[in-house]
Amino acid sequence: MSEKVISDYNGYDYKKIFWEDADREYEDQADRMAIRKLLPKRMAKFADIGGGYGRLANEYLKRAHKVIIFDYSKTELQQAKEVYGDKIETRAGDIYDLPFKDDELDGLMMIRVTHHLKDMKKAMAELYRVLKPGGVAVIEVANKRTLPKIVRFMIGKSKVNPFDKKVANYKEISKDGFYNYHPKYVEEIFEKTGFKTEKVLSVSNFRNKGLKKIFKTNNLVKMEDKAQSILAPIRFAPSIYYKLRKPEE
Ligand SMILES: C[S@@+](CC[C@H](N)C(=O)[O-])C[C@H]1O[C@@H](n2cnc3c(N)ncnc32)[C@H](O)[C@@H]1O
Repeated sequence: MSEKVISDYNGYDYKKIFWEDADREYEDQADRMAIRKLLPKRMAKFADIGGGYGRLANEYLKRAHKVIIFDYSKTELQQAKEVYGDKIETRAGDIYDLPFKDDELDGLMMIRVTHHLKDMKKAMAELYRVLKPGGVAVIEVANKRTLPKIVRFMIGKSKVNPFDKKVANYKEISKDGFYNYHPKYVEEIFEKTGFKTEKVLSVSNFRNKGLKKIFKTNNLVKMEDKAQSILAPIRFAPSIYYKLRKPEE
């Protein structure tokens, strides 16, 4: 049986349901802020892996000469094409078997995708393969060791031990499961794959309904800007961002 799980976004209006109709301005800003801090300023060929409808395209279009949005969902890619037209190329397929040549890309990013990946080792090996030596990968990881998850475990509301390095699969969230990773677990995979970690950021530190009400989005965004570097060493945020480099040969 295949180890792969594809979370199929075909026919799911991710843009409208998850972003436009929900109160996620803070999370969107937090992602953008981290990407601006980590992505190289100039790249020849860049791909947004699991890029969906191109939510973050404005963050890389000005930095890359050639942009490819890659995703499993053709409906997501169609939405991206409608907005960005000839500014982007779209490619459809599976992350575990990327339709890219070896060493094809100067840069890539993969944001809000790891929670759909059961096999991080295989996915990271593919990303490494398609990146040129010297190229940069910005990877967002869904963290299993967050403060709320630690509290829920401590008071007996969750059986998932956030300190256990093995992958957590929260079956109740979607039928395919929803994977969260321990930072140490993914960092070992990055190293074994051959990547060098250049920078780490703690992202979406204040993702909480109560905090959103108290502080308002613009204040949370200002706090987030400072917290991304300051809190990076403790790795307690729901999203951990990594700037990885494939070493020069
Ligand atoms: C939560 S969305 C994130 C989209 C975009 N990166 C963003 O941050 O707005 C996850 C995306 O990953 C894609 N995806 C999930 N598993 C995949 C796989 N195995 N191969 C290719 N794409 C996949 C989905 O189709 C979806 O567009």
